[in-house]
Amino acid sequence: MVFPTHRMRRLRRTETLRRMVRETTLAVDDLIYPVFVVPGMRKVEEIPSLPGVFRFSVDRLMDEIREVVDLGIPAVLVFGVPEAKDEEGSEAYSPAGTVQRAVRAIKHLAPDLVVITDVCLCQYTTHGHCGIYEAGSVQNDATLEVLERVAVSHAEAGADMVAPSDMMDGRVGAIRRALDEAYFEEVGIMAYSAKYASAYYGPFRQAVDSAPKSGDRKAYQMDPANSDEALREVALDVEEGADIVMVKPALAYLDVVRRVKEAYGVPVAAYSVGGEYAMIKAAAEKGWIDERAVVLENHLAMRRAGADLIITYHAKEIAKWLG
Ligand code: PBG
Ligand code: ZN
Repeated sequence: MVFPTHRMRRLRRTETLRRMVRETTLAVDDLIYPVFVVPGMRKVEEIPSLPGVFRFSVDRLMDEIREVVDLGIPAVLVFGVPEAKDEEGSEAYSPAGTVQRAVRAIKHLAPDLVVITDVCLCQYTTHGHCGIYEAGSVQNDATLEVLERVAVSHAEAGADMVAPSDMMDGRVGAIRRALDEAYFEEVGIMAYSAKYASAYYGPFRQAVDSAPKSGDRKAYQMDPANSDEALREVALDVEEGADIVMVKPALAYLDVVRRVKEAYGVPVAAYSVGGEYAMIKAAAEKGWIDERAVVLENHLAMRRAGADLIITYHAKEIAKWLG
């Protein structure tokens, strides 16, 4: 007879008691805020599919960075939009590229802010695929050489960490080697290790015009049906030198976050992607949900699943609510 000896409600009686036995916390230290940078000057464009998130030219990005620093958010993840696209995505490794200019400006303004750069080609290629595209498919090994150049160019601009999101095989090892050869052995790698071929990327692709012009990304991003495979992806990335591994998207893949966290002693990041943000914004605008409560609950769930870090478009709002 466990009841009435055991009464679970005893420890739920007051907020003070609840605070004492709370197992999981959500803190501003856990958050990484994505920022979008466009060419030109004096540009502040709200992204229609991500209300409250903007595309800034480098000059205007500085106010945003000041706000991020003032809120205590420790890191940003920088995405760039190029001046022009080509077959190879060559602007991705230009020293005068949008990301490279943004990184230099951010590190000048806020040296302590951790600057992480997304390393991929899809915004930069005319075909919109994440690598070199030939004969109807993305060429793995030819892509690695370009990714190495992109990563080194970001490190030269001052990035603290690079985040390859292309899902080519062997890219973490290739980038690690290239960084080390260029004497950037202190620059880290946050690998998009278990990145799924997800419909939740729609709003992001609108934001940076990176949708593939033909086909999809299923031949390189992971099948949403698999999680054993995610562990193999993570194992390879850890072995190749990843400092942080990532699961993406977050909410629909919390089981994967948990498995990765249990299997490896490396920091795990969960990327709460554009589609997750957009759904909440849309429902909140209609008055159908309590936005603040839902956002905090979702992000706490990511932490409970095992995410050490959360990349989220809600980072500024969460920082304000927690502050
Ligand atoms: C580019 C990239 C994508 C995201 C981050 N880097 C999209 C994609 O693979 O199509 C998604 C971010 C988001 O949806 O918020 N490879
Ligand atoms: Zn890509």
